[in-house]
Amino acid sequence: MDESVLDTVGSPLVRVDGPSEATVAAKLESRNPGGSAKDRPARAMIAAAEASGELQPGDEIVEPTSGNTGVGLAVAGAAKGYDVTIVMPASKSPERRQLLRAYGATVELVEGDISDARERADELEATGMVQLHQFDNPANPRAHYETTGREILDQLDGHAPDALVAGVGTGGTVTGIGRRLRESFPEVDVVAVEPTTNAVLSGGEPGADEFQGMGPGFVAPNLDTDLLDGVLTVDLDTAEAECRRLAREEGILVGQSSGASNVAARRVAAAFAAGERPDYRSVALDDWEPRPTAGAADGDPVVLTVFWDSGERYMSTGLFEDDDG
Ligand SMILES: Cc1ncc(COP(=O)(O)O)c(C=O)c1O
Repeated sequence: MDESVLDTVGSPLVRVDGPSEATVAAKLESRNPGGSAKDRPARAMIAAAEASGELQPGDEIVEPTSGNTGVGLAVAGAAKGYDVTIVMPASKSPERRQLLRAYGATVELVEGDISDARERADELEATGMVQLHQFDNPANPRAHYETTGREILDQLDGHAPDALVAGVGTGGTVTGIGRRLRESFPEVDVVAVEPTTNAVLSGGEPGADEFQGMGPGFVAPNLDTDLLDGVLTVDLDTAEAECRRLAREEGILVGQSSGASNVAARRVAAAFAAGERPDYRSVALDDWEPRPTAGAADGDPVVLTVFWDSGERYMSTGLFEDDDG
């Protein structure tokens, strides 16, 4: 028996359809107690702030977030007895607001994007609330290093991964997992995924904040860019079509950042399966085989990705209502 719901953090690594002669495997993070990968950094940032004395009983936590970190903090706050205020762009899905309120958090909506939410959270911090600063806090990538990365090593069952391909918000996930994998597999490629319309890692200008949680429009300090071998971009329509395909053909319900990550992971897997280490500036989307494999053999390339949360969190956006024909 676990002492607390916070002790149930952890998720399965599941093979998804990929090109022939390769394995694509995704960490299904919706299985965490608050339903997303962000339960891990939320729990870790609170523990670090408690250990440093910055967070004490009776303190109130504030954080700007596109949603999932907020839910993670609301869960941990409820379990540990802290009041939590979440500052969130009004454009993020209504399910997240409802969830936050269900866990007893106060939700403050701001017009604009995550940068506007950060400004408002700074103001609230100045009134005495404790802000955990997920974009800078080293406990964020460390949580993924210590839990997600370590779990993947166990779940790989001795297979050597060729690449980690994952979306970037704060950068905590790709940095933490990437660092842990690199220690055991120095050759593994670490590839970031960002929205086509907000491709700042690829050298573009900040643009539309269309994805929930991916592509904040700036390079977060928690993203270790030295770790990256490449950056791939995926547009929203392609990501959403992939979410519908995953739901209908594989029984896996996820949101847009996961769909985007899977599209990119399949492209990378196809390039590896074709026999070469991919040149990430020219991995063509059309190169991958859309049909499932009969099962990759031992020794075939292994590409890892992350599915951050469940598609249930995006129902109201109409994501699953499109008819792809
Ligand atoms: C749905 C979703 N996808 C992707 C990410 C990106 O994760 P990270 O902040 O670890 O880069 C987040 C982060 O909040 C998210 O909520």
